[in-house]
Amino acid sequence: MTANGRSRRAWWRDAVFYQIYPLSFADSNGDGFGDLEGIISKLDYLADTLGVDALWISPFYRSPMSDWGYDVSDHTDVDPLFGELATAERLIEEAHARGLRVIFDYLMNHTSIEHPWFVESRSSRDDPKRDWYVWRDPKEDGSPPTNWVSVFSGPAWTLDERTGQYYRHTFLPNQPDLNWRNPDLVEAMLDVARFWLDRGVDGFRVDAAHQMMKDPHERDNPPVPLDYERPWKDMGEYDNFVHLYDFGHPDVHEMHRQFRKTVDSYPQEPVTVGEIHIFDLPEWASYYGENFDQLHMPFNFHLMAADWDAGSLRVAIETILWNVPVGGWTNWLLGNHDERRLATRLGPEHARLAAMLLLSLRGTPFLYYGDELGMTDATIPPGEGMDPWGKKVDYLSRDGARTPMQWSSSANAGFTTGTPWLPVAPNSESTNVASELEDPRSMLNLYRRLLAARRDSKALRIGSFLTHPASNDQVLVYRRESNEEIATVALNLSDEETQVKIRSGTVAVSTVDPDRTETVSKKLLLEPFEGVLVSHQ
Ligand code: GLC
Repeated sequence: MTANGRSRRAWWRDAVFYQIYPLSFADSNGDGFGDLEGIISKLDYLADTLGVDALWISPFYRSPMSDWGYDVSDHTDVDPLFGELATAERLIEEAHARGLRVIFDYLMNHTSIEHPWFVESRSSRDDPKRDWYVWRDPKEDGSPPTNWVSVFSGPAWTLDERTGQYYRHTFLPNQPDLNWRNPDLVEAMLDVARFWLDRGVDGFRVDAAHQMMKDPHERDNPPVPLDYERPWKDMGEYDNFVHLYDFGHPDVHEMHRQFRKTVDSYPQEPVTVGEIHIFDLPEWASYYGENFDQLHMPFNFHLMAADWDAGSLRVAIETILWNVPVGGWTNWLLGNHDERRLATRLGPEHARLAAMLLLSLRGTPFLYYGDELGMTDATIPPGEGMDPWGKKVDYLSRDGARTPMQWSSSANAGFTTGTPWLPVAPNSESTNVASELEDPRSMLNLYRRLLAARRDSKALRIGSFLTHPASNDQVLVYRRESNEEIATVALNLSDEETQVKIRSGTVAVSTVDPDRTETVSKKLLLEPFEGVLVSHQ
């Protein structure tokens, strides 16, 4: 402990996080939707069987579910679909009792159209809460104030006939944007954070954390130039513009400073991880704050955006690590509730290599529920989709990666006794917790070995990262080194056997052979698509 009573190394730097999408994790009451009681019933699996350290739980607040909980109508209550406020409080307690930390989503950018604040705000131009949202007059010809499009396509403005003004929405028309330039709104939202921090939550995943501050002059975005290279996945209509003016105005940083100050006043050392979809790295890194007074970590989506080959991964990893400010700490993720699953994107062999990569890099790993089993996206029959984005633009649907967690080979993969809200993926017969626990070669047992190795190794948790000269186009090799230990990770991304020269050590984990434990003397043989972790004591 230091003089101010804080441990020298913040807990979240050493943690492995696991994201739970509560609608799909475990259903305790048979209504087909996962719930908080369901999560509580699986805490032993998470803490002991799997061995993660912290949970990020996606929204369970009161919501009309236009965007499945990302449209909040009461930030300080639990939607009846998920339980009661007391269940959320018990979830925090039960998690803590097992040594698990818990972070919740903090929905900064918008609320539901049904939130009482918005209901009041839209009631008249003179309402005291009018300015809590963003209202603007139409242009002279009646059209919206700017050409901004919403992330989910269509204009980012909707005309409210009653008062004759447009309100802004970065996402669905049912998700009106909050006005963080109004001090009363800021205070009300900081109270929301305090409400959960008072109940012991260990921090927040901040939704759309760069979106809320837009150009005060409200200039139109320019169309993309012909040679424009998309920095990230296909976003449909949103990609038609360069987003110069509709996110990330510098005022956003002051807002994050205020949020951080609130969070830092709590003794549990809460962490803030922000959803920052920015691919200009210095700009991305600015969300740490010059004095580390903003987000503890902007989410690092860059590995997901990189091509999956040894050369591109090496460049992506090195570039990120160079851009994290000295003294800062990054995180790594390869999936979440908005992306296609990693085993779908990469295929089964590469998914195993991805597990080793994610759990052996310098930075806090975030796992997405079910990825530890090798779950793949389900194809949702036409007309049965649930995702509002997918309903607008079929191929952008996120439903496939949100299907029920696969617990066993029984009906509905053991997720529910009712009818699941989204279909269970077809591979649940073999890809599930119960079957995989029995099979030493399963993905789940690979994750368990990797998690245990990371827990036991200072080199993996806090050590430096150095790419090894044996890296080439097929093989990514790197070294993690702390004062006490050194570990080498060698990932063969090719379908050919290969050999790399490394210093002597002992194989701790192989992604293909659970029994591989030999001592390596200089030469390490790698099977096709094999990843090996070697420890040098
Ligand atoms: C974030 C969430 C996404 C949600 C959107 C609107 O991007 O991750 O799931 O749809 O915000 O709240």
